[in-house]
Amino acid sequence: MLDTRQSHQQTTAPEAPAARTPQVAGGFPARRMRRLRRTEGLRRMVRETSLDPADFIYPLFISETVTEPVAISAMPGQSQLPLAALRAQAREIASLGIGGVILFGIPAHKDELGSEAYNRDGIVQRAIREIKDAAPELVVVTDVCLCEYTSHGHCGLVRDGEVQNDETLDLLAREALSHAEAGADVVAPSDMMDGRVAALRAALDSTGYSHLPIMAYAAKFASAFYGPFREAAESTPQFGDRRAYQMDPANGREALREVELDILEGADIVMVKPALPYLDVLARVRDRWDLPVAAYNVSGEYAMLKAAAANGWLDERRATLELLTGIKRAGADMILTYHALDAARWLAGD
Ligand code: PBG
Repeated sequence: MLDTRQSHQQTTAPEAPAARTPQVAGGFPARRMRRLRRTEGLRRMVRETSLDPADFIYPLFISETVTEPVAISAMPGQSQLPLAALRAQAREIASLGIGGVILFGIPAHKDELGSEAYNRDGIVQRAIREIKDAAPELVVVTDVCLCEYTSHGHCGLVRDGEVQNDETLDLLAREALSHAEAGADVVAPSDMMDGRVAALRAALDSTGYSHLPIMAYAAKFASAFYGPFREAAESTPQFGDRRAYQMDPANGREALREVELDILEGADIVMVKPALPYLDVLARVRDRWDLPVAAYNVSGEYAMLKAAAANGWLDERRATLELLTGIKRAGADMILTYHALDAARWLAGD
């Protein structure tokens, strides 16, 4: 007993080494953050966020007026597609492991009421059938909005120069229902009318589509970054702008109210759009609610990166993956992005 204690005392109370740097508990030099960055194996092991093509949703522009893919000048690598190009495109997207697509239609005929938006044989309705047939595993999301279908380019019915909220709801519900009937997996209202999620939910539930999820463009800001999309979708408003229905970029708390209302109305997934200038909103939404959150990495964000890369100012691959990782880290479960194909290839090591 005595011996043991003596030897114990000897091993635990050696001569203290001469104090060098004063040690703050937990601080340098005991704590060195670089230890876990030293090798790729360690970095990979402690990585908090990873990208998975299954979380990407790739936007497609399907035009009734083109017979060949037509390049969109401000979105290098993206095109308006004819219906005939869809099957091959869908199979390629699916083969890369990408989770889904979101469809935008460009009809041959536009009118005041956007009637092609809810035509059972409209361009998007036919596109849905083609894609579900060619690649059934792809989740087909449809953008529910009138702006590509109205002659004035606004997202709702216009009277006396104003977008009419309540009358638009009925048209949006008809549009969503026509997408459901064509076989869409998710409908995504992007119009920013008040009450549209509830209107869609009621219309779907009363017609046998209570199983169909709604992805609400919940916090959608009136953004300059939609510019290239409007060329792609031919949906530039013919007068005025969208600031009377889309959100003011300055408002973060209001975005949370928008999200809350959409959840109360029955949204299954809520979206923040655009992504990069609104990562704070995305993080707040992620913190506050537990339902899946989507982020739309929009056309202008894509155009910026492509332009810088084309000039040799940025390493396209690294910048793209960093940008997508940032969106994921901020809280997105899924990302709508034009980079989906490239990113999926890069992630696969190509
Ligand atoms: C339709 C819609 C828009 C986008 C998605 N759905 C344009 C707009 O609101 O003007 C923008 C997507 C992008 O810029 O990539 N309302």
